[in-house]
Formats: sequence, structure tokens, C-alpha cells
Amino acid sequence: MKLKNALLSATVLAACMFGSASAGELVVGFSQIGSESGWRAAETTVTKQEAEKRGVDLKFSDAQQKQENQIKALRSFVAQGVNAIFLAPVVETGWDDVLKEAKEAEIPVILLDRTIKAPDDLYLTAVTSDQVHEGKVAGEWLVKNAGDKKCNIVELQGTTGSSPAIARKKGFEEALAGHDNFKIVRSQTGDFTRAKGKEVMESFLKAENGGKDICALYAHNDDMAVGGIQAIKEAGLKPGKDILVVSIDAVPDIFQAMAAGEANATVELTPNMAGPAFDVLDAYLKDKKEPPKWIQTESKLYTPADDPMKVYEAKKGLGY
Ligand code: AHR
Repeated sequence: MKLKNALLSATVLAACMFGSASAGELVVGFSQIGSESGWRAAETTVTKQEAEKRGVDLKFSDAQQKQENQIKALRSFVAQGVNAIFLAPVVETGWDDVLKEAKEAEIPVILLDRTIKAPDDLYLTAVTSDQVHEGKVAGEWLVKNAGDKKCNIVELQGTTGSSPAIARKKGFEEALAGHDNFKIVRSQTGDFTRAKGKEVMESFLKAENGGKDICALYAHNDDMAVGGIQAIKEAGLKPGKDILVVSIDAVPDIFQAMAAGEANATVELTPNMAGPAFDVLDAYLKDKKEPPKWIQTESKLYTPADDPMKVYEAKKGLGY
């Protein structure tokens, strides 16, 4: 009760500060992680486009990779009395308290592109890919295409504690299980960024005989793969040939790399999480129709056989 009163006063205060939404207009707060990758930037663009198309007032907040900023943004959305919240959670844990506050204020929260470890009554649904499956698809491609020789793999992980970093590692390792010639010899976070991916790959190359002992690079996203490709080239080796490159996202730049013979496979993640999220939100707000707890997006494998430059051109219109 105390919390409800506090929220009510905060809501009144926020209404004075920010102004209330006009009657009938849907107001959605979107707490975005940041802009660490090309994929993330595209998700932001698509979410804004979807909101505009549907006449939704989207309150956008960029957390600059910090969970504390996301928690602050969520509290501010609750105080403003938004109709719903979209949350792309930077890490898996630490959300319970703020989600309870949103629940208490009867504001539905929809998770975008990453999952969390919290009781599932604290959010309406999660629109995400199957991230374990993504890692598995990447690993299966490698097992099938690297041959029977000994294959030392280096892995660039995503943000520590994030669901894609945890799940994509797990799925990849599942695919390698039972194939004893494959071994992950180095694994470190590259924070899902191109710059860090390059930096960490440089250290992997140095530690592994200038890269001569590395058979494949597995990166949890394409941006880190692109950074890794640069590092491989600077070390005097041929990415895509001397060192196979497999990653996840399917951003336009990886298709350019594929066309140049420098990347071998990527698993697509759609940046359009907002479309399905707005659809279920509409149905929920109109008819209280409870969506399933997980709305799964597709994960498609692309290789150089898929006409990379054609895909590159097509992708550019999709928020990239
Ligand atoms: O959560 C999705 C991941 O986050 C994307 O694969 C990566 O590029 C992003 O930063």
C-alpha cells in the first residue's frame, strides 16, 4: 500500500514534469541497452519505426550498457505512468525488485531479445530467439565444415552475464560434444563490440603461435567477428581460409566479409523484436489476452552459398 501511494505521488510529479499522454494514445517506455553492435542499432531503429507506424508515443532510454541505468529508466517509466515497458535486459539477473514495482503499478513489461532469471509472472512475455539453438547451429556448421583434422577454436564471448553470451556458449559446446578433434583453446569476452573483438583477437593470435595454431574463430556476434577478421588480416593470415569465421546476427557487414571470402557462416537474428511485441501488447491491453511467455523469433543460417551481396543489399533496408 505504501509503495502504491509512493508510486501515485511519483506519477503525479512525473505528469507535472513530463506532461501526460493524450487520451487514447499508447505510451511505451523502451529501455535499450546501448548501441554496442550494428544489430543493436538496427533494433533501436526498427522499434522507433514500429512505434511511429502504430501511433505509439515511445519514450526511449539508452542505458549505455549499465544495468543501473536501466533500473533508473524503468523507475522513471513507472513514475510517468506509461502504459507498458519494453526492456532489452543487459544481464540476466538483478531485475526482481524493479519488475515488482512495475507489476504493482500494473504496467506490463515485455522483454526484448534477451532473457532474464526472474519469476515469469513479473513480465508479460519475452520476444527472443532461441539463443542456445543459435550457438548450436554455429557449432554444427563448424563440425560439418572443418573436416576431421584437429581444430583449435578461439571464442569471443558477448557481454558477461548476458543471456546471449551464456546461451550461445552453451549451444556451441553442445554441438562440439563428442567431436574430440574440436577444442575451444581460448575464450574471452569482447563485449559484443567490434573494437574489443579486435583487441581480444589480437591477444589470441599472439598466444597461439601468431594464429598458426588456430583453426576457427567463433564470435557471439558479427561485430566482434568483423573486429577479429581485421586482427587476423593484420597478423598476415587469411580470415575465412587460414582461420574459419563463424558468428551470429547476420548484419550487412558480415555479408560483405563473406563476399570477400573472409567470413564463413552467420546465424540470423531479426532486429524486429518490436513488431511482435506491439502485436501482443495491443491484444493484451484491448482484451486482456495473455500471450505465451515466450515469443520465439527465427534463427536462419547463412553461408557464402546464399549470395552474400544480394543479402547485404536487402538487409540495408531493414533498420541497418
Ligand atoms: O541480445 C542480442 C545480442 O546483443 C546481439 O546478438 C548482439 O549483437 C547484441 O549486442
